[in-house]
Amino acid sequence: MEYDIAVVGGDGIGPEVTVEGLKVVTAVAEEFGFGLKLVEFPYCTQHFLDTGEILPDGALDEFRQFQAIFLGAIGDPRVEVGLIERGIIAGVRFGLDLYINLRPIKLYHEDFCPIKGKKPADIDFVVVRENTEDAYTGIGGILKRGTPDEVACQQMIYTRKGCERAIRYAFEYAVRRNGKKRLTLVDKANAIRAQDIWTRTFAEVGEEFPEIERDHGYVDATCMWMIKQPEFYDVMVTPNLFGDIITDLGAMLQGGMGIAASGNIHPGQVSMFEPIHGSAPKYAGQNKANPMGAIAAAQLMLDHIGEDAAAVCLEQAIANLLGSGRIRSLSAGVHGTDEIGDLVVEEVRKLGRKGGA
Ligand code: IPM
Ligand code: MN
Repeated sequence: MEYDIAVVGGDGIGPEVTVEGLKVVTAVAEEFGFGLKLVEFPYCTQHFLDTGEILPDGALDEFRQFQAIFLGAIGDPRVEVGLIERGIIAGVRFGLDLYINLRPIKLYHEDFCPIKGKKPADIDFVVVRENTEDAYTGIGGILKRGTPDEVACQQMIYTRKGCERAIRYAFEYAVRRNGKKRLTLVDKANAIRAQDIWTRTFAEVGEEFPEIERDHGYVDATCMWMIKQPEFYDVMVTPNLFGDIITDLGAMLQGGMGIAASGNIHPGQVSMFEPIHGSAPKYAGQNKANPMGAIAAAQLMLDHIGEDAAAVCLEQAIANLLGSGRIRSLSAGVHGTDEIGDLVVEEVRKLGRKGGA
């Protein structure tokens, strides 16, 4: 079996963490006996500055020929805030209808957690972030810009279809994960009454999953509980914007932005995998960035393309390395970017030889 993977290194530290993610995934593929055909795409801020092109017409059709897209990071202070992020990240999420943003939060060593006394067993949950609606659709604008009468508005929109498919995916995920069998809906329906659509849909879809305990938290209180009692959580489902916010908080619980990964998923179709961190231009090209987020994203990608055993092996390799205490910190600048990639490959080889294909 050979898989077609589109690679977009992107801006800042994106290309260098991508190299490490691909190095690891190539080693896993060797161990498990499948092939990867990697095709690079140049989309990034420099490409925009050189050519005027952000995500050209036709790019989405091209991406549809692949099983997955592996993205590094996008963002560069030389251009208007959000221009390239919206064009590429949001462009692909919306254009390919990648309606799930799956973000696992897992602590691999207690030393990485900023909360005292929390052990790996206490921090192990997954956030299912809806990925195509909410305040991200671009409905809105600014009127009388820069005048005393300026008006700015941006709509949060929720469709029945959009929240239902995210909620159903989350219930199914909770079943498959076979963890605490608890799904928490995170919203702010007490203040944002339109989010009542989430409350009702959650209750209705939940009826189909009697084995999953239904839980609910307002997003403000959830931020508090994520710190106070993270061990309570198993799977969360939440609208796009809150999902964006609480997963940065979640990333800190597992040791920082250096390790958090994300899968932008449309089940059964081409999907995009990326670390959740940004492009961190200040670390670019210095071999300082931690590629673990990209490596963990590669693990989600293996799972998506159906190489389940390979995904489990990579997850175990990450757990073995981070659990061993050899990585002192997940922050940038502590270990070399390539050093971490090499260490994960080493763990993959050990596991591959023992338990691989
Ligand atoms: C993320 C990022 C993006 C988002 C930005 C870059 C548009 O923060 O993937 O979490 O808000 O979704
Ligand atoms: Mn974010």
